[in-house]
Amino acid sequence: MTVTIVGSQLGDEGKGGIVDLYGDGADVVVRYQGGDNAGHTVVHQGTEYKLSLVPSGVVRGRTGVLGNGCVVNPTTLFEEIDALKERGLDPDVRVSARAHVILPYHRVLDGGEEAAKDDLAAGTTGRGIGPTYEDKAGRRGIRVGDLLDPSVFRTRLEYAVEHHRTVAEEVYGIEPGDAFDVEALFERYQSFADRLRREEMVVNCGEFLAEQRAAGKSLLFEGAQGTAIDIDHGIYPYVTSSNTTATGAPAGTGLAPAVIGDGEIVGIVKAYLSRVGTGPLPTELGSVDGQTPPDGGRPEHAELATWIRDEGGEYGTVTGRPRRVGWLDMPMLRHATRVNGFTGLAINHLDVLAGLDSVTVGHAYELDGETIETMPPTTERWGECSVIEKTFDGWEPFDPSVADDGISALPENARTYLEYISDELAVPLYAVGIGPGRSETIVLENPFELSD
Ligand code: GDP
Ligand code: IMO
Ligand code: MG
Repeated sequence: MTVTIVGSQLGDEGKGGIVDLYGDGADVVVRYQGGDNAGHTVVHQGTEYKLSLVPSGVVRGRTGVLGNGCVVNPTTLFEEIDALKERGLDPDVRVSARAHVILPYHRVLDGGEEAAKDDLAAGTTGRGIGPTYEDKAGRRGIRVGDLLDPSVFRTRLEYAVEHHRTVAEEVYGIEPGDAFDVEALFERYQSFADRLRREEMVVNCGEFLAEQRAAGKSLLFEGAQGTAIDIDHGIYPYVTSSNTTATGAPAGTGLAPAVIGDGEIVGIVKAYLSRVGTGPLPTELGSVDGQTPPDGGRPEHAELATWIRDEGGEYGTVTGRPRRVGWLDMPMLRHATRVNGFTGLAINHLDVLAGLDSVTVGHAYELDGETIETMPPTTERWGECSVIEKTFDGWEPFDPSVADDGISALPENARTYLEYISDELAVPLYAVGIGPGRSETIVLENPFELSD
């Protein structure tokens, strides 16, 4: 049995919390793409865990796997593992031999490219994600398996450093520093290789997962980022560099598409929108300097935006940047539902909107005088869309302890809002988040108990 958790919007939908919620039914939790650009929060019994790379399931003592589709920064990996150990956990983390390694020069190049791009910059997390995937596609990457073979690693490193040193100097005008020092990198990454070897962390991911399945184990795939920042299906070029959608799960793990398709695919939805990064955002409220395009946002709603941002704690987990906020965008969710084939929805942050007199959604767009119900394929056209809104009566704040009493305990107007989303997308509701904690979630279905 597999369950795949996917962000349906722009990231930070609360995927970590839902992975934790359903993690009880899983034996192995697998990340299939991305790297330490993710910031997943798990709150259990008042303790908060913020994880960038290690799969959230390790908080529940599950085996965590970083699949071949991931880009792995060993420094982050070991820092996170050690921090979890200090907090009394015993994380069991495996890394695919085929996953690509982030080296310090990737971060330098990430910064150089963003600065050079100016208005085209995506507002990346600066973690070197894009340059590492570029190296993968450019066949000059270094994989985890290569680290374990010193002569292979050395040869590839020498080529990559030489190549990137030229780019840094001649394209970005950056003075190459320690990040481009072959000898220092070789030694440091060999010590990472020693630890990977000693702790027997490196696996042939597809084979490892197939063996787990054959032994009757359940797998949970933990997507990072969200559908609207997927490299193919997102708001290119303001996207991340991997397939964040369910499509990424087979390619990023080495399991067959049918394995993922036969399982459950749960779309994680934030009850409004948040965005950390640049590019258009038709339902944006207010604006954030440095992220909202000059002609974007709606200054007349700045107060409301600040209220939602503060109520929802909308400040980046990784970078601390204030997140842009907006109303829920239904065309974005229709697009995500089609691309991913959601079998269920988890709608989070319903509590954040409580207390507003009314709650609005972007129901559809108007473009060139026509009504359209899904996202146009170019980001520029998306930015030209005007929003056809639909407004719902608001609901009063409620105590999160109603989670124990089920959905019927929610205020009626809140239920109307949830039903609208689920009906529009024709996807059943599996869970509703009404606070950050595991116990502050109303569970309607556990996907691990379905279709087994
Ligand atoms: P992820 O990247 O999708 O895992 O999400 P993040 O962890 O980056 O951001 C979600 C934030 O919202 C975290 O601080 C969570 O603890 C918190 N959160 C998750 N679900 C809810 C919810 O239903 N209500 C509230 N108020 N906070 C939530
Ligand atoms: P989680 O998993 C929100 C955004 C960045 C930037 C773009 C490219 O926590 O939901 P990158 O560093 O990946 O090259 O940046 O993608 N971004 C995220 N936004 N949540 C994330 O992860 C994100 N990971 C990357 O802000 O616009
Ligand atoms: Mg996040």
